[in-house]
Amino acid sequence: MITVHTIRELREHVRAARASGRRIGFVPTMGNLHDGHISLIQRSIDAGCFTVASIFVNPLQFNDKNDLARYPRTLPEDQARLSSAGCDLLFAPDVDEMYPNGQDQQSIVHVPEVSDGLCGASRPGHFDGVSTVVTKLFNQVLPDVAFFGQKDFQQVAVIRKMVADLCMPLEIVAVPTKRADDGLALSSRNGYLNAEERELATGLYLTLNEIADDFRAGKAIDASLSAATERLNGRGFRTDYLEIRRVDDLKPASLNDADVVILGAAFLGPARLIDNLQVSLNRPGD
Ligand code: PAF
Repeated sequence: MITVHTIRELREHVRAARASGRRIGFVPTMGNLHDGHISLIQRSIDAGCFTVASIFVNPLQFNDKNDLARYPRTLPEDQARLSSAGCDLLFAPDVDEMYPNGQDQQSIVHVPEVSDGLCGASRPGHFDGVSTVVTKLFNQVLPDVAFFGQKDFQQVAVIRKMVADLCMPLEIVAVPTKRADDGLALSSRNGYLNAEERELATGLYLTLNEIADDFRAGKAIDASLSAATERLNGRGFRTDYLEIRRVDDLKPASLNDADVVILGAAFLGPARLIDNLQVSLNRPGD
């Protein structure tokens, strides 16, 4: 695997791969890679693509400067993982390469509605930072297909709308969440948990599953979510949100909807964890 740090070198390698007839598959990341990221790389390789990964801890998407400062930076370990997974090219730019005129001078991509609410409400400006950096990365890499983890369900929805609205010529593939044996969704932020918190962490997924059971049973959504919030707090978390949304447009769901996603975010010790669970009901007459 080749590692490059500049847009110029990145473009040279991508151009050569395309000239040799390869499709370009792209996996954008912020590093500190785990098996979830590697499953995205694998999907790109399985699709026969020349596979490009990026590692860039994007300051524009962190509304909390302490969160940015402590975000794990593990480039040598990440390079080793990507290389043994079969990734072809790693783009690891620094902040000046990505924002040469400074972050305040950067034009911003804003995706309306779907960026609001959920994580967008708890982390103001977060999705503008994501949309902007992903647009830049897409323009730098020019991929045919880009792979994103389904764990960040709202992020995938924001990127899909951005790609459609701005007529970006690539395909977006969402890859199912990788989980530990106890159900905890793999995340770089799990590394913030101590042993005791790690034991409790599965409580978020457990709670999402209980909400799914309530939904299937036709229990009133408000009552289900407020009881679930109490249970999640009782499991050692401080709930940020628990919501049931329609899969198609992320608008609030009703019991008449057949395809919904249950989304949750909650603080556990120093970590803010997010997760989601899709529920599809095949109701008679549908
Ligand atoms: O999901 C992430 O790791 C980031 O939000 C992304 C897509 C790499 C943009 O910085």
